[in-house]
Amino acid sequence: MKFFVDTANLKQIKEAQELGVLDGVTTNPSLMAKEGVVGKENIFEHYRKICEIVDGDVSAEVISTDYDGMLKEAAELVKIHPRIVVKIPMIKEGLKAIKYLSGKGIKVNCTLIFSAGQALLAAKAGAEYVSPFVGRLDDISTDGMELIHQIRVIFDNFGIKTKILAASIRNPVHIIKSAEIGADVATCPLSSILALLNHPLTDIGLEKFLSDYRTSQSVSKVKI
Ligand code: E4P
Repeated sequence: MKFFVDTANLKQIKEAQELGVLDGVTTNPSLMAKEGVVGKENIFEHYRKICEIVDGDVSAEVISTDYDGMLKEAAELVKIHPRIVVKIPMIKEGLKAIKYLSGKGIKVNCTLIFSAGQALLAAKAGAEYVSPFVGRLDDISTDGMELIHQIRVIFDNFGIKTKILAASIRNPVHIIKSAEIGADVATCPLSSILALLNHPLTDIGLEKFLSDYRTSQSVSKVKI
């Protein structure tokens, strides 16, 4: 399973890249706003910086909700960098835009997926990725992971190549479950990726190894 970070924060993207396990980045207008990036030129420059840090796909979301507007934005976004993937919302106009763009060989990530039907439509239109939002479903007392499972089964039934990008990941358990189910990608906050590192027995074990080493060194000094 690939690991993407779901942030527009350059420091966090660099940190994730330096860990050596980063495969890509997803952003959205809320994440860009959180970083205080405003104005089209600044936003495009920010995407360029992200693409220079990371080796994999970088999703950049359109803000238009009409077909022509989405196509115009997509044409501008893909000029920023070859690694840009155009993020299109799951709405009727979006579906038409996905069909057009994928037909032109432009990679699309269909965002705001909350049902298997939406994922199937996006895949039929040729999306490279579908982004089911796990955490936001959990927030409304629905099992977000069940949706990932349902989409996996449907895509496997028909050999659909569209990648399942588990989004709105909130914790390390979401990441592990996504991997178990067979999501192709999990896009996560950096904190959830870092949380995978932790286990109390690792800390206890390391402390014991080091204290045994220190003890053995001081004993051998006494012998001399
Ligand atoms: C997907 O690409 C979205 O950017 C993201 O995962 C949304 O996550 P949130 O529900 O934590 O805002």
